[in-house]
Amino acid sequence: MSNIDLKALVSQMTLQEKVDQLFQLTGNFFLSAQADITGPMGFFGLDEESLKSIGTVLGSGGAEKIIEIQKKHLSEDRNKIPMVFMRDIIHGCRTVYPMPLAMGSSFDTELMEECSYMAAREASVSGTQVTFTPMVDISRDARWGRIMESCGEDPYLNSVMGAAQVKGFQGDDISKPDRVATCVKHLAAYGAGEAGRDYNNVEVSERALREFYFPPYKACVDAGTKMVMPSFNSLNGIPPIANKWLLKNVLRDEWGFNGVIISDWNAVGELINQGLADGYKECARLSFEAGCDIEMMSPAYHKHLAELIGEGKILEEELDAAVLRFLEFKEELGLFDDPYHGADPIKEKELALCPEHREIAYRAACESAVLLKNDGVLPFSKDVKRIALIGPFADTGAIKGAWAGSGRDDECVTVREGIERLLPNAQIVTAVGCSATIGDNDTSGFDEAIKAAKDADAVVICIGEPQNYSGEGCSRTDLHLTGVQEELAKAVSAANKNSAVLLFNGRPLVLTDIVDNVNAILEMWMPGTEGGSAAASLLFGDVNPCGKLCVSFPKSVGQCPIYYNYFNTGKPKKKKDGEYESFTSNYLDCGNLPLFFFGEGLSYTDFVYESMTIDKNVLDENGEINVSVRVRNAGERDGKEVVQLYIRDLISEAVRPVQELIGFKKVFLKAGESGTVTFRITEPQLRYYNFNCECVSEKGDFTVSVGYANHMKLTDKFTLE
Ligand code: GLC
Repeated sequence: MSNIDLKALVSQMTLQEKVDQLFQLTGNFFLSAQADITGPMGFFGLDEESLKSIGTVLGSGGAEKIIEIQKKHLSEDRNKIPMVFMRDIIHGCRTVYPMPLAMGSSFDTELMEECSYMAAREASVSGTQVTFTPMVDISRDARWGRIMESCGEDPYLNSVMGAAQVKGFQGDDISKPDRVATCVKHLAAYGAGEAGRDYNNVEVSERALREFYFPPYKACVDAGTKMVMPSFNSLNGIPPIANKWLLKNVLRDEWGFNGVIISDWNAVGELINQGLADGYKECARLSFEAGCDIEMMSPAYHKHLAELIGEGKILEEELDAAVLRFLEFKEELGLFDDPYHGADPIKEKELALCPEHREIAYRAACESAVLLKNDGVLPFSKDVKRIALIGPFADTGAIKGAWAGSGRDDECVTVREGIERLLPNAQIVTAVGCSATIGDNDTSGFDEAIKAAKDADAVVICIGEPQNYSGEGCSRTDLHLTGVQEELAKAVSAANKNSAVLLFNGRPLVLTDIVDNVNAILEMWMPGTEGGSAAASLLFGDVNPCGKLCVSFPKSVGQCPIYYNYFNTGKPKKKKDGEYESFTSNYLDCGNLPLFFFGEGLSYTDFVYESMTIDKNVLDENGEINVSVRVRNAGERDGKEVVQLYIRDLISEAVRPVQELIGFKKVFLKAGESGTVTFRITEPQLRYYNFNCECVSEKGDFTVSVGYANHMKLTDKFTLE
């Protein structure tokens, strides 16, 4: 730590210098060749002089560039305050691991932490000091493109995976040259936008916010995240950036967050579009009063905060407090001692895509893959002589997903390359067959694809959704496979029964129309740099799939939003799902249940849940119940199983989910081996928010189960007294 007196530093800054310390701009403003007074500079009301006191830079990456910007800044800033460099390192910096929705399906917090630490190492040497991660927006609607950035629909899973990311990126000292600070986002309920449309309005009761949407953000605050980013959407009528209740009452007062709050890109300025402000001056007042410290890429604070203070509408002490909070953050990053925080062009080159990092990315791609269907064709024999790779994802590196940092498609191992490396003596024929472009109905490639399939010993149908169809601003109303991929999959499967679908996608897709026409479906998501290597290992049995879905796959987009922890209605169906039942809660044209469930995932072996014993059937508020689950690997292959523990509160003051995940453990069992997994249940895990938004547990009966969703393997009961 430096011995700088930060309070004294604030006291010697001019009013405008303090204001501009809270202004974040992209790096191009500081690379003189790109700064354009008449363009963005003019729009932001900036000049060369005011650029000298800007507090933070967004989005730039690369040690040399960041060192150049910081060096120039420190030579010009009267106060010699280092800028802090922030960036979206969501699932890798240069070595890209699977997107968060895939990592969520690994159900592996240690792996999540390991991947985050890898990303931190690469990010820090490349000059990034803060990452806008983890994103923990509960996502129940696959129409929303940013579902790919979350760990899916469950509060508990998003909470533990979010905390693992905070720990992996930050470690226990963010000033270390291999660590970066984190910023949890987007507070709050950004994934609940009406109609699954990005940035759309969110109307969620306070009870539902506290029950389902808040827990992952709070878990990241409790894990020590240093920053919080409010979300773009309006929340019950008030956009979070101007929502005092959310940012002050809940985040600061209830959760005890004392870090830095940063707006999303131009979110302060968007209050004009949202009808809360008639201009930037009102934007500045509303956001600063609500508690937003830093304004990202909009000029409201820069242009009007000093004026508002002069008019007595904002207290200068409030500004000083925000500036001091930010300087203390910079001090904690060690920037006053080392303004470059370990940025090093040589190490940057050494670490990027190094074998150790590729190995981590490979393991993550293996662990997050989910085997959705297998009628026995998988794993393929490694003795096959001729392999046909069909489809638009057969030989492409465009499998890194959105928000992939500095990752590049041409650095991703393709399916073809992965299989060639694994089986160098096999003959591999590739036939794209069709594109994955929305609306492209060209089937002229089918004949070649079908011929290749017929001539092959094994066929891999590599289809999915282009990586630029998910991510920010990428909502969809139709979740089927794009183009004529469905037709291709059916035709190729019919041509050769020894075929399997390999799926690459950034969101749950509607697979209803092909699921009965194909023999196997292996979900690879957007697996990143080592996606092709992992696919080969999984397809040919070197690795046994163990992923479980962290998000439901609907039968139809009309079911969205759809999730496992739903409330029973007063008119539940009694008939089989899909059979219409009058005067019950169901659809005329579709079942209620998803095609594939949260927590679902097959293996090449067979896990038998032999027993579940609980040491007592009564729990008092200070006690605990210990649950032991005996699982046997009854197959012929070693494998991992994610044992998931669910509870259900049978009678309560408010409706309660039909199942709630409260724990999971991944266990490795050799073929024929049995193992016991234990869980502890205590009263706080049974609490929920009642009608008055009090966090309470209620005495009464609960069920405890292992399995997933509507496929529980073993269930028992206990009573809270
Ligand atoms: C984007 C995203 C946010 C990201 C920020 C900076 O609009 O909403 O998640 O961190 O801008 O890139």
